Amino acid sequence: MKKKQHSKHTFLGIILILLGIILLGVVAFTYFRLSSFFKGGSENISHNKNLETLAASFNNIYPENIPPSGNVHEVTLEAKESAIEIIEGYKTNVWSYNEQVPGPEIRITKGDTIKLTLVNNLLDETTIHWHGVRVPNEMDGVPHVTQDPVQPGETFVYEFTPKDAGTYWFHPHVRGSEQLERGLYGTLIVEDPDEHNLFSSDNVLVLDDWRLTEDAQVNPNFLLPHDVTHDGRWGNVITINGDVNPEYAFKPGERIRLRLVNTSNARIYKLFLGNLNAQVIAFDGLPVAKTFSAEGFELAPGNRIDLDITLPNSEGTYSVLDVFTGYQNELFTIKTKGEPISASKEKTKTISIPDVSSALTAETDMNYVLNGGMGSMMMGRGNSGTWTINGEVYPNITQAVFDKNALYKVSFINESVGIHPMHFHGLFFKVLARDGKEVNEPYMQDTVLVHPEETVDVLMMPKDSGTWAMHCHIQEHADAVMMTLFEVK
Ligand code: C2O
Ligand code: CU
Repeated sequence: MKKKQHSKHTFLGIILILLGIILLGVVAFTYFRLSSFFKGGSENISHNKNLETLAASFNNIYPENIPPSGNVHEVTLEAKESAIEIIEGYKTNVWSYNEQVPGPEIRITKGDTIKLTLVNNLLDETTIHWHGVRVPNEMDGVPHVTQDPVQPGETFVYEFTPKDAGTYWFHPHVRGSEQLERGLYGTLIVEDPDEHNLFSSDNVLVLDDWRLTEDAQVNPNFLLPHDVTHDGRWGNVITINGDVNPEYAFKPGERIRLRLVNTSNARIYKLFLGNLNAQVIAFDGLPVAKTFSAEGFELAPGNRIDLDITLPNSEGTYSVLDVFTGYQNELFTIKTKGEPISASKEKTKTISIPDVSSALTAETDMNYVLNGGMGSMMMGRGNSGTWTINGEVYPNITQAVFDKNALYKVSFINESVGIHPMHFHGLFFKVLARDGKEVNEPYMQDTVLVHPEETVDVLMMPKDSGTWAMHCHIQEHADAVMMTLFEVK
């Protein structure tokens, strides 16, 4: 009896010791993981003293904060597998929010708060990033940086008050090359309560590009080496709100607003509008400083463009095409039918962007050198199958540290033969010059297309603190791992 009890104690002791070892292991592993995730340290970027006069007017382009209205929109988004019909007669299996592709259009008024519960019923971890929206840093959806990825079966609540009216979208920030391609994205429209509604119809058109197999399934070969080392995954089927070349009917003379959102992994669209007079009234969310014709405009992955179209006064059919590659891809068709109606001629809201030409000759504060891909592999630069920013591969990166409310001149220097739509989280910037030549573009943006071997200079003023991501929006480049972080203090 006594002996038996003794051995029972020994047994319990061993169990306790084992548990202790496991616990220590978990702690050590977690510590090691966190401490080894980012390797490069940080670097303070001093801002350009010559730009201080300009900084004062730049500061007024968008506000640091806005008063909340107190209205709260509660939304639940369930990420799960489902099926949609893209090609007539076929069910295409997709990953969706609330069984819809595109996911729901969330429409609120500026000042309103969104309280959104993401329910992850996928078999993969995920997050939601609010593209172009200035959210509190911890709501930005960047895994291991602003939050832990949401595991299958888990939920996460995103709560924020968008500070700028405009056209925005959301998508996962985990393995985008697969998660976006399979259909995970939706739109967030923030209406401006001060803006008169001049339009009889306000439409969100989500442009996506799919690589489908013969039986209309999403081709499961993600991150093919050829796509990664070239310009990403370009597909064979283009959809607008999930439909191939849809037709929209309006009355002759109607004034309509179209909000185009490029959610494609890699495809760039160049708009050909033919006989439609389409004016650009907003880009990447914010209104433009001066409207201009949308003809020939290039919409890179991530970009949004808001068009103001007063339709011709007679009945007709108008096709809107993409001509980026030289081929003509039909995007959608507009049909005018019925009795003509007359529309308001009032101008839409614009913002004021100061004259930035004094910054042209200013020294650059921060260079981002873009490299990698096939070209650099053949010339012996870069690692095979990866893309680099300043020679670094995420997460082994140096964090640039910027001061809040200071104005910086930043250059993207593309040394590769690839195209890179570069996206800053948490701020808007103004393109200043391409290859040293001034561009007079009357708009701010959050994603800029950098062409092969081109240098693009931009001016930016961060206003929201935290650690933010900056990356190429071609999903196959971002996943291979063309991304860095910057801190705003
Ligand atoms: Cu839409 Cu980090 O991107
Ligand atoms: Cu890229």
